[in-house]
Amino acid sequence: MTTVCFISMKGGTGKTTLSVLFSYYLVSRKYSVLLVDMDPQGNATIAVAEDRVFDEEGFLVRGMPFILEGFLTPRMSSRELERVVRENILEIEPVKGRVLRLVPNFLESHKYDLHLVSNHAVPVFLREMLGCLDFEPDVVVMDCPPYLSSLSYSALFGAQVIVIPAEASKFGLVGVELILSVVEDVLRKRGEPFKDVVIQPNRIRNTKACSFYLEVMEDKYSGFLSERVVKETVEVPRMVRDGILGFSLQPSGQRKQVLEALASLEGRILGGSHGEA
Ligand SMILES: Nc1ncnc2c1ncn2[C@@H]1O[C@H](COP(=O)(O)OP(=O)(O)OP(=O)(O)O)[C@@H](O)[C@H]1O
Ligand SMILES: [Mg+2]
Repeated sequence: MTTVCFISMKGGTGKTTLSVLFSYYLVSRKYSVLLVDMDPQGNATIAVAEDRVFDEEGFLVRGMPFILEGFLTPRMSSRELERVVRENILEIEPVKGRVLRLVPNFLESHKYDLHLVSNHAVPVFLREMLGCLDFEPDVVVMDCPPYLSSLSYSALFGAQVIVIPAEASKFGLVGVELILSVVEDVLRKRGEPFKDVVIQPNRIRNTKACSFYLEVMEDKYSGFLSERVVKETVEVPRMVRDGILGFSLQPSGQRKQVLEALASLEGRILGGSHGEA
């Protein structure tokens, strides 16, 4: 099992887009994937399963808030906790016969944030949650919020691979600096090294400013930088409607570039020798 966390301190860099696309891509490559929405904005949840996880008033009916509540309930037995975790994972079939599992999330999980801290549960939460699964995912993909919460720290403490989507801009670089210093800090605290830390340039436009800041990134972060950049517009909800197989079978123009970037990420962090589309 490989745990991959998409995180950045800057908003709108493509964490959700890339974590959803990467999950779909991996499912199309026959990996067993668990996508964990760590962000109470719930954008990954809405993109992937809006019609399945909310009641009529817009409250979440299953997902992360229920898992957090169970986790923070004193004296809950490990058997009960396993049941809570399993009940709060949703199975989605983006294409017939291919399952993606999702831990949905939404605003309700904000209210547990401080409780995780006061229970000293932040470093262990993700590992313990994954320990309750009744299946063994090949890859766990986590979509984090654009700020440091107890859930984003839990992701950093439990992840083997960190992927930092980054815009090639002045402020994009500030975001990268900041998250790298947080990653270093977590590394010191948890002791265990990361398998990889990847900076994934995203939303690259054909402008002078973008080219300039891409070069700055290349100079500064050559060891971290992913091989390929994601250049083209990707609407996640639309992608989900089309299904990843529909997507991958039509690798023309823009889509081809996105697929190449996803394949390159797969190769870098998973070895790339698994299954086929
Ligand atoms: N490679 C790309 N090309 C064009 N548009 C993109 C690309 N990646 C993301 N976007 C668009 O940018 C916007 C922000 O993307 P996304 O929601 O994935 O970012 P995020 O980092 O998850 O944001 P947040 O910090 O709010 O969680 C969306 O409208 C998305 O469609
Ligand atoms: Mg997001």
